[in-house]
Amino acid sequence: MKKLPILIDCDPGHDDAVMLMLAIGSGLFDIKAITTSAGNQTQEKTLKNALKILHLLETDIPVYKGCDKPLFRNLIIADYVHGEMGMDGPSLPEPTQQPESQSAVEAMARILTESPEKITLVPTGPLTNIATFLLAYPHLKPKIERISLMGGGAFRGNMTPTAEFNIYVDPEAAAVVFSSGVPIIMCGLDVTHKALVFQKDIDRFRAIGNKTGQVVAELMDFFSIFYRRERPELNGGAALHDPCAIAWLIDPTMFTSKSCYVAVETTGTLTTGTTVVDFFDIMKQPANAEVVYDVDRERYMNLIYDAVQKLP
Ligand code: RIB
Ligand code: CA
Repeated sequence: MKKLPILIDCDPGHDDAVMLMLAIGSGLFDIKAITTSAGNQTQEKTLKNALKILHLLETDIPVYKGCDKPLFRNLIIADYVHGEMGMDGPSLPEPTQQPESQSAVEAMARILTESPEKITLVPTGPLTNIATFLLAYPHLKPKIERISLMGGGAFRGNMTPTAEFNIYVDPEAAAVVFSSGVPIIMCGLDVTHKALVFQKDIDRFRAIGNKTGQVVAELMDFFSIFYRRERPELNGGAALHDPCAIAWLIDPTMFTSKSCYVAVETTGTLTTGTTVVDFFDIMKQPANAEVVYDVDRERYMNLIYDAVQKLP
């Protein structure tokens, strides 16, 4: 089966790390590059974390450093979730691979220019790199198959009552992406708060017996601390956000979605960073995103488990 050409932009980050394991372990993707965004932690730390994950998985996909901060705003990090190093919990060996010398945005432009086929972009952090690329190289939009992203939410937020972290960190970048005309799969909090990992799942990963399964378990042990303390409504589950953006590309039938018009608020006192999802088509604007809002959790977890089993 032909592998889907993709470019991953992420801010590892515990759930970004599991997303990378799913993408690589599934064997279904031709991963052209991994670019890193500043979000869960600073760019310096997310870049190093991406390299650490590739070292663990014994693979050497080229990694490119992205923007250090949002387009117009100061960086806000999520160390209260992901820890001081951004992927706290497991002790991972220092990577041997170095990042490429080209910047993330220049690499995106080169890869899309050179590719004989369209490429799917998979951002799972703030959209600064993607927006910068779209603004600098608008003529390359036709080379993008779609953007399958983790971000936003129709009916809730996690940074404010209505704004999700990836959008809130760089709302102007998100506005550029959602108004770009490129087809978007939006995996927001509506679905990711159902894509929950529970202790039984963590124990299952640990029981696989390979080093990747052990690291997943240790990552999820740490990641769960925040969710068990701050999100009791999730009944002990932690929202495994980012793998949704890859899982949808593998098997969209495990998800439920609706084509909607989505705009991003960038100036509201209470609502900046909100993805305004016109779920009931009240504004009669043309849909610009497939908004994913439900998932078969068991199928989702099994997909990740099967991928992790195939890894070192
Ligand atoms: O709001 C959840 C998102 O913010 C996830 O992508 C997580 O990794 C953080 O980046
Ligand atoms: Ca992320």
